[in-house]
Amino acid sequence: MKKLFIKTYGCQMNAYDSARMAALLAPIGYGVSPTVQDADLVILNTCHIREKAVEKVYSQLGRLRKMKEARASAGDEMLVAVAGCVAQAEGREILTRAPGVDMLVGPQSYHRLPEMIAKVSRERGHALETDFPALEKFDALPAATGDAGVSAFLTVQEGCDKFCSFCVVPYTRGPEHSRGPAGILAEARALCARGAREITLLGQNVNAYRGQGDDGRTWSLAELIAALADIKELARIRYTTSHPRDMDDSLIEAHGNIEKLMPFLHLPVQSGSDTVLADMNRQHSADDYRRIIARIRKARPDIALSSDFIVGHPGESDADFEATMALVREIGFAQSFSFKYSPRPGTPAAGARKQISESVKSERLAALQALLMQQQDDANRASIGSVRAVLFEKLGREPGQLVGRTPQLQPVHAAAPASLISQIRDVRLEILTSNSLGGRLTQRESALA
Ligand code: 5AD
Ligand code: SF4
Repeated sequence: MKKLFIKTYGCQMNAYDSARMAALLAPIGYGVSPTVQDADLVILNTCHIREKAVEKVYSQLGRLRKMKEARASAGDEMLVAVAGCVAQAEGREILTRAPGVDMLVGPQSYHRLPEMIAKVSRERGHALETDFPALEKFDALPAATGDAGVSAFLTVQEGCDKFCSFCVVPYTRGPEHSRGPAGILAEARALCARGAREITLLGQNVNAYRGQGDDGRTWSLAELIAALADIKELARIRYTTSHPRDMDDSLIEAHGNIEKLMPFLHLPVQSGSDTVLADMNRQHSADDYRRIIARIRKARPDIALSSDFIVGHPGESDADFEATMALVREIGFAQSFSFKYSPRPGTPAAGARKQISESVKSERLAALQALLMQQQDDANRASIGSVRAVLFEKLGREPGQLVGRTPQLQPVHAAAPASLISQIRDVRLEILTSNSLGGRLTQRESALA
């Protein structure tokens, strides 16, 4: 068995892709190894969304080159592949900057990895495989095998046609493409058969899902979720990540009508200023976002909200930033991600004249993050004393403890027997620690356990 080491950067989509690549390489003799030192093949599955992430990849490639040379002088070979969005976006640039790289494989071409590895080993040249048509990808990958985990991810959509001014995704992941519902439902059933109780549907623009049914009809995400809800073993459904413009009536209604659809929504707004939103080409205003949130809260009052924010987009004034702070104060987020704007070569915002200084970006980010952290803390504190249905996922750090999540995605630890893994139980939330809520099975539940 040859040893494969995969390092994953970035989003959940990448984590999912890494698992699929491992499954794909198993038949040609590669088993996943936890250490890089003795690996025969190293795959860096990269993320291009922020500049820092790309630089991390280059410094990792520098270290790998040294390891590779050491191995070569011992008569041993280590192949290095760069996969994911950096491979797609930087292309041949990587081969110039990081000469130790043997293969580049873009997100559309993972199914060709075995062939590429075979070729590279044969000829010891550079294989380039980043321009493959999107459609073949899903069907050509074999299904992953083994334990699916209690909470599994399932990619249903890829790519983006929105072209936000700051973002590389439309260039690296290509146009929006949805998988057909039949394949998704089959995969969901297979995941449940392998132990999954919760499935998170993934896509860069997952709520833009438009899948072609075998009957020729186009399915919306709401219809897909409704069909998934009919799978008996599946207890919880989530989806991420969404664009406000695609939050249509049927999906909002689904939050009110489909019990298995969990009360949590990650809906990035990026900014609270209409000027910045227009510059970002977001195609919605701050008030559009407010209206969508109001409708979702009407459909599902206990929903927890999450968002992404960017500070320091070119041209962002103090007043624009204040508008973001005001929107955050008004809406209240249970969880969030916030970033300093980082110029990505080739995107419109990178060429804009009014770039914001690093020190202003840092100040704004600190102020925004303090507010968002406070809101997250408040949301968690407000749930203390309440009873929540927790889906236990795995053993906790302390003996006799399990960890799981509430419907609102809050992490919870509680004393509970391992037999409750993959079960949903009522837990009374008691304390807030730095990254989790501590709780106790309700008396009724402990009597049953
Ligand atoms: N600079 C900073 N943040 C970015 N994001 C995407 N591109 C950039 C960029 N150039 C953030 C957005 C997006 C999240 C996944 O990453 O907030 O929603
Ligand atoms: Fe990037 Fe905008 Fe598409 Fe999200 S919607 S992936 S931020 S272009």
